[in-house]
Amino acid sequence: MKKIQLASGFSIPQIGLGTWLLTGRECFEAVSTALDFGYTLIDTAVSYDNEQDIGKAIEESGINRSDLFLTTKVWYQKLRTKDVIDQCNRSLDYLRTDYIDLLLIHWPNKYIPMRETFEGFEQLVEERKVRSAGISNFTIRHIQEAKKSTVLKLSVNQVEFHPFLYQKELLQYCNGNSISVMAYSPLGRGKVFHSELLKEIAEDKGAEVSQIVLAWLLRKNIIVIPKASSDEHLKANLDSMEIELSDHESSLIDSISENERIIKPSWAEFED
Ligand SMILES: NC(=O)c1ccc[n+]([C@@H]2O[C@H](COP(=O)([O-])OP(=O)(O)OC[C@H]3O[C@@H](n4cnc5c(N)ncnc54)[C@H](OP(=O)(O)O)[C@@H]3O)[C@@H](O)[C@H]2O)c1
Repeated sequence: MKKIQLASGFSIPQIGLGTWLLTGRECFEAVSTALDFGYTLIDTAVSYDNEQDIGKAIEESGINRSDLFLTTKVWYQKLRTKDVIDQCNRSLDYLRTDYIDLLLIHWPNKYIPMRETFEGFEQLVEERKVRSAGISNFTIRHIQEAKKSTVLKLSVNQVEFHPFLYQKELLQYCNGNSISVMAYSPLGRGKVFHSELLKEIAEDKGAEVSQIVLAWLLRKNIIVIPKASSDEHLKANLDSMEIELSDHESSLIDSISENERIIKPSWAEFED
C-alpha cells in the first residue's frame, strides 16, 4: 500500500475505509473484513457513534497497533479546549488505543475562536495522545486562519472531493502549504455510477467505475476513504491502487466537474 508523508513527519496509507453510517454489528463486520483484506487506515468521528464498534473490531483482529492508522474528528459544537481534550480521551477509550494517528476538526465553527481549539490539539500532541493534527471542511480562508492560530503543522484537510466536485483551487492551495488532501465521499455517495463517461473509461480499462474514480484521486496524491460494507466493494476499492490512468483519461475526468456539493449541512460555511 502506497503511503503519503504528512507534514507532521508521520506517514498515512493512501486508501482507507470510511465508516460514516456504519454502526453496531454492520460496522464491526465491515471493519473486521477490511482489516482482513489489508486495509490499515480507518476513518471515523465522534459524531459517527461507532468508535466502540471499531475498537472492538481492531482488538479482535489482532493487528499490531503500529500497522494501523486511525483518524477521528472532534465535533464542531465541541471545539473549546476542554471539550476537545475530553472528546479525544473518550475516543482513545472507545478505540481501545493510547494514541490517535490523526485528529481532525470536523467542521469549522465561526463562533469558537480557532486558537481555543488548537490549544487542545497542542496539549494532546504534547502528551503524545495525537500524532498528527488536521482539519476537515476547511476552505482556503479557514486554512489561512488556522495557520495563524497554531504552531502545529496541519497535516490533512479532509474535504468532499470526487469528479462532480473537483476542488482544484483548494487542492493547489493545500499542496502549496504541505497539507495533504483526504477525499471524503470519493464515490459521490453513489453518484459516480451514473456517469456515462466514467462507465466508458471503466469498460475500456476492464475495471469498475469505482476503481476509475479512486485511481483518478490517487493519481493526484489524494488520500481516499470510500465507505463500503460488502466484501466485494471493500476488495474492489482496495484494488483500485492497481489501476493506472493515462493523462488523457485523467483530464477527461477532470472536465466532468459540475461543482456539485453533496454534503451541505446547515452549519457549513462554504464560500461557493
Ligand atoms: N469530514 C466529513 O465531514 C465527512 C463527510 C462525509 C463523509 N466523510 C467520510 O468519508 C467516507 C466516505 O464517504 P461517504 O460514506 O459519504 O460516501 P462514498 O464513499 O462516496 O460512497 C459510499 C457508497 O458507495 C458504495 N460503494 C462503495 N464501494 C463501492 C464499489 N466498489 N462499488 C459500488 N458501490 C460502492 C457504498 O455501498 P456499500 O456500503 O453497500 O458497500 C456506499 O453506498 C465516510 O464514510 C466518512 O468516513 C467525512
